[in-house]
Amino acid sequence: MATTQQRLCMNQADGEAGYARNSAIQNAAQSWMKPAIEEVLIGSLNLKSTDVPNSMVIADLGCSAGPNALALVSSAVDAALHHRHAANDQGSLEIRVLLNDLPDNDFNDVAKRLVSFQQSTQSIGLLLTTGIVPGSFYKRLFPSNFLDLIVSSNSLHWTSEVPKELKSNMIPLYDEDEGLRRARRPLVIQAYREQFRKDFTLLLKLRAQELVSGGRMVVSMLGTRDHMCITPWNTIFIPLNDMASRGVISREMLDSFYLPMYGPSDRELREIIQDEGSFEINEMQVHPVEKPLTAPNTLARVMRAVAEPMILQHFGVSSDSMDEFVRTLEQQLTPGNPYHSYLTGYRVFVSASLTRRF
Ligand SMILES: C[S@@+](CC[C@H](N)C(=O)[O-])C[C@H]1O[C@@H](n2cnc3c(N)ncnc32)[C@H](O)[C@@H]1O
Repeated sequence: MATTQQRLCMNQADGEAGYARNSAIQNAAQSWMKPAIEEVLIGSLNLKSTDVPNSMVIADLGCSAGPNALALVSSAVDAALHHRHAANDQGSLEIRVLLNDLPDNDFNDVAKRLVSFQQSTQSIGLLLTTGIVPGSFYKRLFPSNFLDLIVSSNSLHWTSEVPKELKSNMIPLYDEDEGLRRARRPLVIQAYREQFRKDFTLLLKLRAQELVSGGRMVVSMLGTRDHMCITPWNTIFIPLNDMASRGVISREMLDSFYLPMYGPSDRELREIIQDEGSFEINEMQVHPVEKPLTAPNTLARVMRAVAEPMILQHFGVSSDSMDEFVRTLEQQLTPGNPYHSYLTGYRVFVSASLTRRF
C-alpha cells in the first residue's frame, strides 16, 4: 500500500482538463451562497461612522484556482461597495481578503487574479489588501480574533484523511462486484461519517478561535440527501474498474485507493454544529445539483479535473490514460446504460450560514 501523503489538489488551472474550465458544478453552488454573503456584509458594516475606517477581514477556505477562486470574496467586496453606495457613504473602506488552500494548489494563478482584482477596485475609494495562506484548514491558519467572515465552497467535504480502519483492514471501496460493494457499504459509510464528524468538529473549533465574536461563516459543500452515498463520488468505481480490466492499473492498487471525502446530509451537519457549540445556525439550505450540470460529459470532466492528481499519484499512470477515464465515465452514464441512474438522485449541496457565539 502506498505510504506517501495523498496528493490532494485540483488539476492546474489552465488547459482543457484543468479546474478553471471544469468547475461549472462548483460555480453553481457559489451562486446560492451569494445572497447569504450579501446579508452578512450589510449587517456587519458600520457605515456613517467617520471616526474609524470601516474594515473587514474575509478568508476563503479551499479557494483552488481559476475563476471560482475569487468568486466568493469578490461577491463580498461587491456587496460592501453596493451597500456603501446605496447609503451614500463617503467614509473609507478597507477590506483584506485572504485565500487559503493546500500548498500544492496553483497559487500562481491565484496571485495573478488577486492582482487584477486589486487593480479593478483601485479607483473606487476602497483599500483592498490581499494575501495567500497555504496550509490545511484542519490546522490553525489565522491569528486569534482576526477574521470577520469566513467563506468556503465545495471544499469542506474533503476530510483530513481516509478513515484509518478502512486502510489498515484493507477494505476496498471500489470493488467490481456490486454485491460486495453493497455488503461493505454500512461499514464504509460509518467509517467516513465518523471521520467527517471528527474533522468538522475540529474545523469549527479552530475557526471559532480565529473569528471575532459575532464573526460569520458562510459555507457550502457537497452532500447527500440520505445515506445512500458513500462519498459524493462513488461513480468513480466505473472508470477505475474499466482501467483495471484493461490492465492499465492493477486490481491490487485499485483495492487500496480511497478518496478522502464525505458528503454529509443537512441533518448530520446540523447535529455536528450543535454538538460542537461555538456557532449559532442562522440558516441551512439543501440544493440539488441541477440536471444540465450533471450531464455525463460535464460530470466526467469535473471528476477528472478534481481527481486526476490523486489518480496519477496512486496508480503511477500517465495523464493520457485519463482521456479514456472521461470517455468511459461519459459513456456509462448516458441514458440506456445501467449506470445512468448514478447521475441523478443523491448529489446535493448543503450550505450553512453561521455566527460565532459571543
Ligand atoms: C473542488 S475545489 C473547490 C474550489 C473553489 N472553492 C470552488 O468552489 O470552486 C476544493 C479545494 O479544497 C482544497 N482542500 C481540500 N482539503 C483541504 C484542506 N485540508 N485545507 C485546505 N484546502 C483544502 C483542495 O485543494 C481544492 O483546491
